[in-house]
Amino acid sequence: MMSMDRRNALKNIIGITTCAAGATLVPSFANAAEEAWSLTPADLGTLAYAPIDPMKVAKLAYNQDVRNKGCMYQVFHALITALAESESPDAAKFAAIPTAMSVYGSGGIFGQGTICGNNNAAGMFFKLINIKGESASAHLASVSAYYEQTALPLNSAEFLAGVKDDRDTDLTPEVFATKVGEPTIAKSLLCHASLTRWADANDMAIKDKGMRCQLLSASMAYKIAEILNTAYEAGDMSVFPGKTPATTGCSSCHNTASTTVPSVMAGMECDTCHGND
Ligand code: HEC
Ligand code: HEC
Repeated sequence: MMSMDRRNALKNIIGITTCAAGATLVPSFANAAEEAWSLTPADLGTLAYAPIDPMKVAKLAYNQDVRNKGCMYQVFHALITALAESESPDAAKFAAIPTAMSVYGSGGIFGQGTICGNNNAAGMFFKLINIKGESASAHLASVSAYYEQTALPLNSAEFLAGVKDDRDTDLTPEVFATKVGEPTIAKSLLCHASLTRWADANDMAIKDKGMRCQLLSASMAYKIAEILNTAYEAGDMSVFPGKTPATTGCSSCHNTASTTVPSVMAGMECDTCHGND
C-alpha cells in the first residue's frame, strides 16, 4: 500500500510539473519513479531464491572487508550479494537491499550475548525470500538445529582453502588449531552459550574470538546456502539435522495450544536451560 501511495504522490507532483515546466520533463520523472524500488512489508516472502554456490557464499562471508563488520553482517551480506549476482529474476531487488542494516547483530546484539548474529541473519534472510513460490520459513528449523548440534566452525583443509580471502596469508588446519582450537557444539542459539562453551573448551578468552566467530559465520553461510539449494531442488531435507527427540517430546505437551500444561512457544533445545547439560 505504501508504494501505491508513493506512486500516486509522484503522479501528483508530475502533474504539477507538467503545467509549470512543460511536457518534456514528464518521461524522465516517470522513469525515476518506476526504477526506485525499495522494500516494503508487502515484498516480504516474494523475492525469488535461486541456487547459489555454498563455497562462494562462504568466501563472501569471510572476505576481509565483510568479516570485520560482525557475524550477522557476514551471513546476511554474503547471502544477499550472492543472490544479487544469481539467476534470480529478483536479482536487482536483492542488490537494492541495504545489508548494512544487519551490522547491529554482532555479539548477540551489541555484545549482549542474546541471539547469535548467524541465526538472526538467517531469520532476516528467510523472511525475504520464497523458494519456487513457497515460504522458506519451514527450513529455518534446519538452520537452527545445525547451529545447535554441530561442532563448529568447519575446519577441513578444503573448507579453509575455499573461504580464504585472497589477501590472507595462510589458512590451514594448523593455523585454525592455534587461533581457534577445537570446534565446539553450541547446544543453544545464543551468542553467550556458543561463545562461552568454545572459550571454556579451548582455554581461551572471549576477546580471542576473532577467527573463531568469523569462520563460524562462513560455515553457517555455507550451510544455509546448501539447505536452501536442497529445498529448491526438492531434495532430501532429512540429511540436515532437525529438532532433537528430547525437544520434540517436551513440545508434544508444552506447545502454543496447551492450556492444561504451561504453554510454550520455542524451537530451541529445551535441555540447554531446563536439563542438566
Ligand atoms: C506428558 C506431558 C509433558 C511432557 C512430555 C513434558 N512436560 Fe513439562 N510439564 C507438564 C505438566 C503437566 C507440567 C505442570 C506441572 C505442574 O503444574 O505441577 C509441566 C511443568 C513443566 C515445567 C514447570 C516447572 C515445573 O517443574 O513444574 C517445566 C520447566 C517443564 N515442564 C519443562 C519440560 C521439559 C523441558 C520437557 C522435556 C524434557 C517437558 N517439560 C516435558 C507436562 C509435560
Ligand atoms: C534459553 C533458555 C531456555 C530454553 C532453551 C527453554 N527455556 Fe523454558 N524457560 C526458561 C526460563 C528462564 C524460564 C522462566 C523460569 C522461571 O521464571 O522460573 C522458562 C520457563 C519455562 C516454563 C514455565 C516454567 C514455570 O515455572 O511455569 C516451561 C514449561 C518451559 N520453560 C518449557 C520449555 C520448553 C518445553 C522448552 C523447549 C521447547 C524450553 N522451555 C526452552 C529458559 C529456557
